[in-house]
Amino acid sequence: MLAEQMLTSTGAGLAFDLHAFGDDAVLGCEFVGTIVQVHPSVSKLAVGDRIAALIWGEAPWRTPADNRRTYCIADERIAFKIPDSIGSPSACAIPLAANTAYLALFSKGSLNLPQAGAGPDRSVLIWGGSSIVGYFAIQLARLHGFTVVTTCSPSNFDFVKKAGATHVFDYADPHVAMKIRGALPQLAHVFDTIGNSTSSSTASGCLKDGIGALCTVRPGKTNTDGVPENVRVTDVFVFTAFPTTHTYRGLAYWPVSAESCNHPGSKKHNPGLQNKNSVL
Ligand SMILES: NC(=O)c1ccc[n+]([C@@H]2O[C@H](COP(=O)([O-])OP(=O)(O)OC[C@H]3O[C@@H](n4cnc5c(N)ncnc54)[C@H](OP(=O)(O)O)[C@@H]3O)[C@@H](O)[C@H]2O)c1
Repeated sequence: MLAEQMLTSTGAGLAFDLHAFGDDAVLGCEFVGTIVQVHPSVSKLAVGDRIAALIWGEAPWRTPADNRRTYCIADERIAFKIPDSIGSPSACAIPLAANTAYLALFSKGSLNLPQAGAGPDRSVLIWGGSSIVGYFAIQLARLHGFTVVTTCSPSNFDFVKKAGATHVFDYADPHVAMKIRGALPQLAHVFDTIGNSTSSSTASGCLKDGIGALCTVRPGKTNTDGVPENVRVTDVFVFTAFPTTHTYRGLAYWPVSAESCNHPGSKKHNPGLQNKNSVL
């Protein structure tokens, strides 16, 4: 599907560092645009649709004939038609954060939470609910019936409650872990959307009996050394959401995880960046 870009959001840091696409490329991992051409296999979207989509950090280009117009290729499986009620700048911030949140919560390589059901374990701590990734994680968890406890600054308490958080605590409170354990004594799952030097260890201190699972937003499980060994530590990497493998012109390579991404027909690979580069 070929779309004329209107807006590009999150930059692709590694593509920039590697100078993978040359000087004229417009880098970005997500965009809003209008479809100008579709492959025959495209079934959900059509020419003229205003869409937002996750892209690989490459692909945008300008035609020599009209240097003001920028195009990119997107996959409809990780794109959506934008409702009229949502402006382009808002829509442009959705694909990368929402995909990261979804994979962290539900992919097999991460928290692997059950998408349906009931029970005392249907609660999750979203550490950093006012981050963009955390904001979508709250909504997705609530949508799937979870009780959501989150942390943020007091000035954002109302913001995260509107997103669906049932319990909110200030991450700067020295007693935050104890308070969260008091509010949700059965807690067994944590998504750390911050991944700084203290967040994963503090967040894991909220788990019942120090046992459970934690997913960090840091690929490579960076900053999880302080997490107790009884906690299963996983990570998330948004580029495993793509239905096909891709490379930055041979300079970096990303596999796809069919199990994690639930895309029929995808080949099975281990998720994660498979070279010495790091990203995000
Ligand atoms: N693994 C992947 O594939 C992937 C994909 C996307 C992003 N990421 C990473 O995910 C992280 C979050 O990205 P983002 O864009 O969602 O962040 P963001 O929107 O920039 O998050 C900023 C917010 O984080 C909150 N925060 C800061 N320190 C905190 C702490 N110690 N505990 C709890 N909350 C804290 C602050 O909230 P208050 O204002 O309420 O204090 C701040 O406003 C980044 O490190 C990014 O690189 C990874």
